[in-house]
Amino acid sequence: MKFLYSCLLLLAVFAASQAFSSSWGKRNNTDILLSRQNERRAPLKNNYWSVNIDYPRAGTSNNYTISFINVIDNFRNTSGATPSLWSGGPGYRYAQINLRSQVSRGIDSTVEIYGKRK
Ligand SMILES: *[C@@H]1O[C@H](CO)[C@@H](O)[C@H](O)[C@H]1NC(C)=O
Ligand SMILES: *[C@@H]1O[C@H](CO)[C@@H](O)[C@H](O)[C@H]1NC(C)=O
Ligand SMILES: *[C@@H]1O[C@H](CO)[C@@H](O)[C@H](O)[C@H]1NC(C)=O
Repeated sequence: MKFLYSCLLLLAVFAASQAFSSSWGKRNNTDILLSRQNERRAPLKNNYWSVNIDYPRAGTSNNYTISFINVIDNFRNTSGATPSLWSGGPGYRYAQINLRSQVSRGIDSTVEIYGKRK
C-alpha cells in the first residue's frame, strides 16, 4: 500500500514536472534572442492540441547556430502543454518544437530561441 502510494506520488510529481517549462542546450550570456513567440490555444473539449513550431519560419532563413531553446509554460500549474524537441535544436540552425496540450486544456506557452553571436 505504501509502495503504491509512493508510485502514485512519483507519477504525480513527474506529470507536474512535465507540464512545466523545458529547455534544451545552454545559454551563453553573449547569445542573442533569435525568436520569441507565444502560442495560445483555447481548450478543445475532449481533445488535445498538437502544435508544431518551426524555426526558422517557412520562407525565412536563419544563419545563426541555435544554442538554447526555452519553453515557458505560462499557465504555471499542471494544465500546461508538454514541449518536445522533434528535430534540430542546439548545434543546428533549425528546430522543430512540438507542444502537446492535455485533453480539454488549452495552450499558453512561450518559445524562446537563442543563437550564438558571430
Ligand atoms: C560564451 O561565448 C564566448 C564567445 O564565444 C566564449 O568566449 C565564452 O567562453 C562563452 N561562455 C560560456 C559560459 O560558455
Ligand atoms: C544568410 O547567409 C546567406 C549566404 O551567406 C545570405 O545570402 C543571406 O542574406 C543571409 N541571411 C540573413 C538573414 O542574414
Ligand atoms: C491553470 O491555469 C489556467 C490559466 O490561469 C486555468 O485556465 C486552468 O484552469 C488552471 N488549471 C488548474 C488545474 O488549476
